[in-house]
Amino acid sequence: MKHTSSKKSTERLSHILSHHKPERVELIPILQEVEEEFGYLPREAMLEAANFTQIPASDVFGIATFYNRFRFTPLGKHPVKACMGTACHMVGGALVLDALERELGVKVGDITHDGEFSLDRVACIGCCFLAPVVVIGEDIHPRVTPFKVEEILAGLKERDAGKTAHKD
Ligand code: FES
Repeated sequence: MKHTSSKKSTERLSHILSHHKPERVELIPILQEVEEEFGYLPREAMLEAANFTQIPASDVFGIATFYNRFRFTPLGKHPVKACMGTACHMVGGALVLDALERELGVKVGDITHDGEFSLDRVACIGCCFLAPVVVIGEDIHPRVTPFKVEEILAGLKERDAGKTAHKD
């Protein structure tokens, strides 16, 4: 099973590389596409990109880290994104993010031990009138407060537990 999924990953990566030239200037666009495809930058993909662009692997890791916009860990089953655009920031977005970090027990860019939740900050997602906004998976949660964070996460965990019980 693992073999199949890693084969699939290799194919997905080859597909990305196939429409780039093996040149240094292609590195960032390649990394951006890898992140779009996988949700993060897998180590193997970075090594492959280094090989392809003939850039030393240590430089690729350095560049990816420097840009400060890439994720190095997979997304959780529920990817949580706190909007840090100006409108959300002005009405307590940072406090909401603090609450998310506290409740989930992870920092931005990380994933919970059970793989259920990952946490990221995003720039304006275009619904400032609902600020502060948190996006979880496909759902947009409007006017979130630190207090509401606990409620939202508890609701999700409850829903998941219900699904599991239903399966048994
Ligand atoms: S600033 Fe958060 S939705 Fe626009």
